[in-house]
Amino acid sequence: MEGPSGQAGSVLSGDPIAGSAVYPLGSRVNAAGHLEVAGCDLVELAEEHGTPAYVYAEDDLRARARAYRDAFESRGADYAVVYASKAFPCTAAYRLFAEEGLSVDVASGGELHMALRAGFDPARIVMHGNNKTDEEILAAARAGIGLLVLDSFDEIERCERLLEEPRPVLIRVTPGIKPSTHDYITTGQLDSKFGFGLADGLAARAVERVLGSDVLELVGLHAHIGSQIFELEPYRLAIRALGEIAGEWCRVVDVGGGLGVAYGEEDEPPSIDAYVDVKVRGVAEVFGPGVRIMVEPGRSLVANAGVTIYRVGTVKEVPGIRTYVAVDGGMSDNLRPMLYGSRYEAVLADRAAEDPETLVTIAGMHCESGDVLVRDALLADPAVGDVVVTPATGAYGHAMASNYNGVLRPPVIFCRDGHSRVVVRRETYEDLTGRDV
Ligand SMILES: Cc1ncc(COP(=O)(O)O)c(C=O)c1O
Repeated sequence: MEGPSGQAGSVLSGDPIAGSAVYPLGSRVNAAGHLEVAGCDLVELAEEHGTPAYVYAEDDLRARARAYRDAFESRGADYAVVYASKAFPCTAAYRLFAEEGLSVDVASGGELHMALRAGFDPARIVMHGNNKTDEEILAAARAGIGLLVLDSFDEIERCERLLEEPRPVLIRVTPGIKPSTHDYITTGQLDSKFGFGLADGLAARAVERVLGSDVLELVGLHAHIGSQIFELEPYRLAIRALGEIAGEWCRVVDVGGGLGVAYGEEDEPPSIDAYVDVKVRGVAEVFGPGVRIMVEPGRSLVANAGVTIYRVGTVKEVPGIRTYVAVDGGMSDNLRPMLYGSRYEAVLADRAAEDPETLVTIAGMHCESGDVLVRDALLADPAVGDVVVTPATGAYGHAMASNYNGVLRPPVIFCRDGHSRVVVRRETYEDLTGRDV
């Protein structure tokens, strides 16, 4: 396996998958004409583990974590790469990123619990959330987490009431930068439920307030300006904006996540190296030496490392309008198309070498007309029983999965060198009634 910019070779000349930035590293069409991820034939995986299932290339996850670390190391920066675990929260992922030397961002008591259970060093945990409960704040303090990120004046008061010992904190700032991404995933603009605004003076007031606190030790600032961002300039602007309220006390600058990924072949996000470069330079320019830079990547660590496999159950032609290919999952395993209008690609794993010439709509099995995974997909004449693969589903798929329509949430399967292992099992019908009293 090569680094994030390289791919394993293919047995086919003109293999459309090998070398694609959309698929996990090492994906290819194998000699059987099947799609293969990390040496595992996806048709065989579908037989063995059933569908739908989330399939990840373990080496891909590790390579991206290393790419982040290498980018900082090569620039001699004092840094922490903080995995934004909301993107893909499961024990195996927490454990893998802990092994790769990353820190972790948790945004709830549940994520905190999972990170600790997976063995994360509490000192490497950063806790977010715009409405942390008393219990969550106390659990974080008792665990001895590294940093708490303050999000509101109510929370400052709550922490002062609850905390018995001084704790290092960051203040989350909304710097008023609005990158050109989907409005729903833009969080750094002034009209936001997150953090303290800069332009309205609330961030400066929060700094003053926390500097006067006995139990909250202000060590730095945080800004996350949005997600799936393809431009680098907004980060530079956000860092400059943070500089407006920083003082001697500012030893840590956490510049959030946000790096976009390729959901389709036409998407060309900046590299991890270019993203880190702009942040390292920006922090050095504005804050000078000796300040620790933190980044919080979620999507860019996990999205392209994962694919989802489904089985086709029906193919229904609505004459003159469209052909619906219905699969055995949908909005319960990938909510993003319905939530954000996100686009995905699709391919048939069992006929991956054939020309995809049939225009179809890939629909889920839920009782919603909007339950459409891919509106216009070109597939190789799909039929009942085919295995459909949607790539780039490694982020916010498993994380946002639900039991809508009594559907069982899919397993998560890690693949490496031709071997697969289940790291999250498929739910059972018993699980569905397990909480009912
Ligand atoms: C505070 C914070 N940090 C990091 C992230 C991760 O962002 P991304 O997945 O775009 O890297 C998010 C995502 O919403 C976030 O809210």
